[in-house]
Amino acid sequence: MKKTAVAHTNIAFIKYWGKKDSNLRLPYNGSISMNLSNLYTTTTVEFSDQFRHDSVEIDGKEEPMERDRVIAHLGRIRNLKKVKTHAHVVSKNTFPSGTGLSSSASGFAALTLAGTAALGISLSQRELSCLARLASGSACRSIPSGFVEWVRGDTHEESYAYSLYPPDWWDILDVVVMVRAEKKYISSTKGQTVVTTSSFWTARLKQIEKKIIHLKKSLQARNFTTFGSIVEAEAFEMHAVMMTSTPALFYWLPETVLLLRSVRLWRSEGISVYATVNTGHDVHLICEKKTLPALRQKLKHIGFWKQSIVNYPAVGAYCTDQHLF
Ligand code: PMV
Repeated sequence: MKKTAVAHTNIAFIKYWGKKDSNLRLPYNGSISMNLSNLYTTTTVEFSDQFRHDSVEIDGKEEPMERDRVIAHLGRIRNLKKVKTHAHVVSKNTFPSGTGLSSSASGFAALTLAGTAALGISLSQRELSCLARLASGSACRSIPSGFVEWVRGDTHEESYAYSLYPPDWWDILDVVVMVRAEKKYISSTKGQTVVTTSSFWTARLKQIEKKIIHLKKSLQARNFTTFGSIVEAEAFEMHAVMMTSTPALFYWLPETVLLLRSVRLWRSEGISVYATVNTGHDVHLICEKKTLPALRQKLKHIGFWKQSIVNYPAVGAYCTDQHLF
């Protein structure tokens, strides 16, 4: 059977960085995110006895690294049904992969939904989220809709993501600025293995539960200034842990720093915008919808508007009949 699914990537407001179990991808802490409307993956999966092996095409190419991860995930899906049937997978992203825009989140969420549907396996949203997590941690947050919390959990079944609020809860947006096309030099999966070598890591873990509670309160109250301040400080904290790990992980490029400094300047001029950065160099600018015209002017002025994508809060993963082959 052939099935197609769409999943949006997400931006984490409270980050996932570090796994206490790398096989099950159980995180050291919970995280909070929002799905992004214009950054998504469409994936078609067909299982057939006619296929002699699994084949994977991502954005028109066979990417060896991603191919192995996709095939490993197909294996997990096949195990649920105890079958050995091979699959053909075609996947398309609306954005470049490997630069820190979290294509693995949308990619593995879409693969999880299309793959299980193609084998006729019916799972609850929570079960889909757990299954997606095994392929890429942040992928579990791309299954539910809108504003999402990933509950840390100590077992496979307890570590899942659920929707805190639907996409229309709050008119905030994420203007992602792709500062350069180059790929990040170390993947999240690799980078996370050294998290415990940072002396800042224990300090981070000590207060993260409190931070999650504060962020959730500001989201509930739609208090943008408090929300934005927590989000930006959280991104800097995660990057401080990265930079003080052994080996040190330094993902920022000069343009990243330029944007992070500009955001401070713009705030002092009365433009309420905050920044966050994932693994990589691209900068996500978070603001309310009413602030977009002023932000657009600023980005045009420093020459970054053309490399920007405006994202609104988006729905969770869903199936479609628009197959890619
Ligand atoms: O899910 P991964 O392995 O791509 O890791 C994601 C890590 C961050 O993007 C830096 C943080 C997050 O919570 O999305």
